[in-house]
Amino acid sequence: MNAPLSLAPPMPLFGLPGESPHERVIFGTDRSGLRSIIAIHNTSRGPAFGGCRMWKYKSDHAALTDALRLSQGMTFKNALANLPFGGGKAVLFAPAAPFDREAVFSAFGTLVESVDGKYITAEDVGTTTNDMHVVSLRTYHVSGLPRSGAFGGDPSPKTAWGVFLSIEQALRLHLKKSLSGATVAVQGLGSVGMALCEYLADRGAELVVADVDAARVADAVSRFSARAVPVGEILEVEADVLAPCALGAVLNAHSIPRIRSAIVAGAANNQLAQPEDGDALHARGVLYLPDFLVNAGGIISVAREHLCMGNEADVMREVALIADRVGELLERCQGRESPARVADAWAREKVSTTA
Ligand code: NAI
Repeated sequence: MNAPLSLAPPMPLFGLPGESPHERVIFGTDRSGLRSIIAIHNTSRGPAFGGCRMWKYKSDHAALTDALRLSQGMTFKNALANLPFGGGKAVLFAPAAPFDREAVFSAFGTLVESVDGKYITAEDVGTTTNDMHVVSLRTYHVSGLPRSGAFGGDPSPKTAWGVFLSIEQALRLHLKKSLSGATVAVQGLGSVGMALCEYLADRGAELVVADVDAARVADAVSRFSARAVPVGEILEVEADVLAPCALGAVLNAHSIPRIRSAIVAGAANNQLAQPEDGDALHARGVLYLPDFLVNAGGIISVAREHLCMGNEADVMREVALIADRVGELLERCQGRESPARVADAWAREKVSTTA
C-alpha cells in the first residue's frame, strides 16, 4: 500500500502557531474577480474592526498568513487603544489583469455584510476612501468613507500623527533629545510615511528616506530636504530613529544585526518577522516601540467615525493618548524588559477585559 500523502499545511489553517485559533476565517470569491479572506481573530471586546488590504499575493498561503497576522495585530491594537472592538482584517487578492474595481469592492461589501456585523472594515494598503464608499452601498459595517468637512475619512494622517507623537516621546524619554536636529530614517513614503515626514520636518528633524517609487523619493527630497538612500540601505542608516512605514516583517534575523538606530518606531503593521525578533532588538540595545501601540491613530479615527462619536478635536485628543501609552510602556519595561514582550502581555491583559 502506498504511504498516505502528507497534506499537512506548513501552519495551522485557523490560527497562528502557538496562538489560540482565530474565531472565524471567511473565504470569499465572486465572478467580479473578488478573492478575499476575512480573518476575525477575537471579539471579546466587541466586533472585529480592521482594514482591508489589496495586494498582489504570491500564493493563497501568503494571503492567509497576512490576514491571520494582521487580524491578531488588530486585536492587540484595539485593546491597547481602549476601543470597544476586537481584531479582524481582510485581504483581497489584486487581480493580475485589469479589473472592474467597483464590481470587486461591491462584492466585497456583500461578503462583509454576510458576516452580520462581526467584522467592520476600512481602508488599508491598496484601498481608498472611494473603495469604502462602494463597500458602503452593500453594508453598514464599513468606515473611512469620503468626507467633506466632517471628521473621519482617510485614516492615514491620524496614523502618522500618532507615530510622530510616539517618536517625539521616545526621543525625549529614552535619548533625552528633542526632534530638532534629530535624524529620522523613514522607510516608505506612502500615505502615512509622507505625512510623517511632513510632521517631522516641521519640527526640525533631519530626514533620510527610501521608497521603491522614485517619484515619492524626489518629492520628499524637494519638500523636506530629505537625504535619499537606496531601499536596500534604509534599515542600516545611522539615525536616532528608524521609522518603518512600508510593509511588514522588515525586522528580522537578517536586518536586526545591521540596524544602527537607537529607536525603531513606525507605522508598518507586523514589523517583527517573529516574536523573538523583539528580543533580538532589545539585546542589541535598540528601543523598539511595537507597531500595534504606535500606529493606532487610524483605527481611532475610523472607530469614532463609525460610532459617530465626537468631532475632529476628540479624535486628535484620543490619538495624543498614544504618546502617554509609550511613556507607560517605558515605565513598565524599566529599561530591563523587552518592550515587545511587555506590550504583548499588556495587550493580552486588556483583551480579556471589557472596553
Ligand atoms: P501606502 O501603500 O500608501 O505606502 C506604502 C509605501 O511603501 C509606498 O510608497 C510604497 O512604494 C513603499 N514601499 C513598498 N515597498 C517598499 C520597500 N521595500 N522599501 C521602501 N518603500 C517601499 O501604505 P500606507 O497607508 O502609508 O501604510 C504604510 C504601512 O502602515 C502599512 O504597513 C500599513 O498596513 C500600515 N498602517 C497604515 C495605516 C493607515 O492609516 N494608512 C494604519 C495602520 C498601519
